[in-house]
Amino acid sequence: MTEPENNAELRKPRFSSFAKTGKIHYNTAMNLPRRPRRLRSTPQLRALVRETALSADDFILPLFVSEKVKGRAPVASMPGVFQLDEIELLVEAGAAHASGVRAVLLFGIPATKDEHASGACAEDGVVQRAVRRLKRELPQLIVMTDVCLCEYMSHGHCGVTEFREGVAHVHNDESVQIIVATAVSHARAGADVVAPSDMMDGRIGAIRAGLDEAGFHDTIIMSYAAKFASAFYGPFRDAAESAPSAGDRRSYQMDASNAREALREVELDIAEGADIVLVKPGLPYLDLVWRIKEQFGLPTAVYNVSGEYSMLIAAASKGWLDERACVMEMMTAFKRAGADLIITYWARQCVEWLKA
Ligand code: PBG
Repeated sequence: MTEPENNAELRKPRFSSFAKTGKIHYNTAMNLPRRPRRLRSTPQLRALVRETALSADDFILPLFVSEKVKGRAPVASMPGVFQLDEIELLVEAGAAHASGVRAVLLFGIPATKDEHASGACAEDGVVQRAVRRLKRELPQLIVMTDVCLCEYMSHGHCGVTEFREGVAHVHNDESVQIIVATAVSHARAGADVVAPSDMMDGRIGAIRAGLDEAGFHDTIIMSYAAKFASAFYGPFRDAAESAPSAGDRRSYQMDASNAREALREVELDIAEGADIVLVKPGLPYLDLVWRIKEQFGLPTAVYNVSGEYSMLIAAASKGWLDERACVMEMMTAFKRAGADLIITYWARQCVEWLKA
């Protein structure tokens, strides 16, 4: 920006009279050629110069379908979020779709778990059945599936795990085999988008090859490319019943300190065939949304995770924050940072609030 020519003029102490007399002269106008407030003076002007606009097309609603509940079961740490049986899933997805939400992201909670996550890739698994049902009843709704093994593993890790002296060792290549089978089974059930969230190496390339081999050339891969080992997933693990029984996820999810590593992960996933890349969590990682979008320009998604949801809901329930205003500000921040898609538990409310 160029310096104003009358800069010297600007620096003149025009209010020196206050210091001398102790009186404010209200008719003393500052000589300001640049007054940014001009463009903020009415709602119409603010709308005219607004840089970031949210749209109903931006939102993806995560939903939990469970083989263990009848009807719906509230998730204690996420008020307003439920585990759903197949019928209630249809109700919830149908209502969201009717409101204008274009896509849902499914998580499954199976009745039984084992050490091979056999439920994850079962043809009649909880997600596979739910996808078939949704695509039959709501063919226009985009159905995305989380592809991960943690909900299906008895130990809760995202891959095949061996425990040596109580320490969990998650095997990469064996895990990828099951992950590919899971993604293909979701595609076979009719999923439009598969979203691997496990953070194993090489899984995007393997999934792309597996899908293509099975004839699913058009199934989209949304990669959780930059997924961090985060304490903000706490409430989700209640919702999905997927907390690891021992150890943590730090040997596969990324360290919160690392941004360049996130860029390398994204680069690899794009090279392997990712169509959409995702950053997770959202709010504490907006720098990465920005850098990834700038550097790669691919459709970029952000996951406004469970902890981000629960902390605002908790504060709002105490009357400390205005839920709606804070949510819309958060969503705008995601968009401003460069996100094209926003995965959020508030998806339906956002779409409704945008109409109001
Ligand atoms: C499964 C998965 C997790 C989330 C999405 N997929 C949890 C985890 O990695 O522990 C978190 C979503 C949220 O917190 O809302 N691997």
